[in-house]
Amino acid sequence: MLPSASHDALAVKVLLDTPPFAAPVLTIDGRQAAAQQMDVDGYAWGFVQKGLKGGTTHELTLTDEFGAALRAPWQLKTLPDLDDLPERFRILFFTCAGGDEAKSALAVNTRRALFDRALSFSPDLAVANGDHIYWDLDTALKIRGSARTLARNEEIYRRIAWIDQDLEFDSETNRRSLNTVIGRQIASIYEDRFASVPLVFISDDHDYFENDNGGTWGYTFPPRPFTLNLQRRAAAMAYPFALGRPKLPGGSLTSETVEAVRIGKLVELALFDCRRGWDTKTGNGMLFPEVERFLIERLHRSEASQYIHVPSVPFGWTAGKLGDWYEDRPPLGTSYGDKEFWPASWFDQHQRLIKALTEQRERPAITISGDIHASGAKRFTRSGNIDLATNPVEAILAGTIGTATGWPSHGRGMFASTPGKLLGTDLAETQEKNGFTLFDVTPDYIEVRQFSWRPPEPIEAIASLKPYATFRIERRA
Ligand SMILES: [Fe+2]
Repeated sequence: MLPSASHDALAVKVLLDTPPFAAPVLTIDGRQAAAQQMDVDGYAWGFVQKGLKGGTTHELTLTDEFGAALRAPWQLKTLPDLDDLPERFRILFFTCAGGDEAKSALAVNTRRALFDRALSFSPDLAVANGDHIYWDLDTALKIRGSARTLARNEEIYRRIAWIDQDLEFDSETNRRSLNTVIGRQIASIYEDRFASVPLVFISDDHDYFENDNGGTWGYTFPPRPFTLNLQRRAAAMAYPFALGRPKLPGGSLTSETVEAVRIGKLVELALFDCRRGWDTKTGNGMLFPEVERFLIERLHRSEASQYIHVPSVPFGWTAGKLGDWYEDRPPLGTSYGDKEFWPASWFDQHQRLIKALTEQRERPAITISGDIHASGAKRFTRSGNIDLATNPVEAILAGTIGTATGWPSHGRGMFASTPGKLLGTDLAETQEKNGFTLFDVTPDYIEVRQFSWRPPEPIEAIASLKPYATFRIERRA
């Protein structure tokens, strides 16, 4: 169960074990919300109720088609009215929650424990920043790794969920396999533990069932029609409804890569997918031009006390991979290097976004990103030829939920570190550990708490995990 909220709407996405004979019934304050079937087979159902009052708590119930309760009634709150200025709002950030235990992701039970610890702080909103699913197709089956690795991947996929690109997208094989992947990687870890915490999902490379790679054969992004369909179907079934999408000129292709979340006049989040818009030909950037324009205009127009960029791909760190904003290469001898295919124009787009962030007068320049399997925080005073000293960029890595072996230094032989063109200092050490980040947002400052844990630390330690770093980002004078 994945809920979402805006200042005037509540939405709930529900995945069922088996398709029912008729639609399940969701009520909000005793009123039935219209049910939408989100997939061909009827496993996934969605409910959206508009026209609600901001900042109010509502009572929800969910029953099956025969009236039997599917869970106990629960509460869900709309986000504050657009004119409100709440004193405090707590946001949970994490990344890379996906992955299958059979392919060496962190055990489902451990991921649940990390979620439960994060939820014990009662966040008002949770942001799941990319890589909800890891089931790469061509990159895992044809492109990356030795013949033995590729064969092992195929053996696992055929055993668990074989997606056949030569069949119709909606073939029974593909529908069943996608259900399995979603069930094992999303439903299994979320269950209904976020029922009262509105969620926002951003997509990243693995959500399109590929890694970010390039070669003489081409690039894995922008997504081809089949992988775009996979992301869209997974989003329809198992991402919370995105209630804050702008209507951009490029239509749904561009609009689906960005979401604005407004918490009254306290804080605005701009979330963006840095994969779907890859321009490897004319060199505009990683984001569609329409998305870049929207982000910069919205930043200028927003009256919020705090403004936060939430890109899928990190600002301020490189792991030497093709899909970074940065040119930095992995060390010589890395098993799979494709950095020579990196388009230099991506850094130009990075610079345009950094410039907009740092030129804010009273608001600190803040970015918190996903994708990299690590936690950490840095304060940057220079990016290329842009001097950031007057309003340094506060960059944060949210922390990964699902990583068990795929740490940057393991996969690519490069510890996630400061790109060559940036100058900054650590606010919190970069750690290749599992974890999450909490923001307590107030009109004057944001208190950041970062949590980390990693085996062989005992799983029991998660329930009382304390932050490894705590710091404040003050509003500028
Ligand atoms: Fe990623």
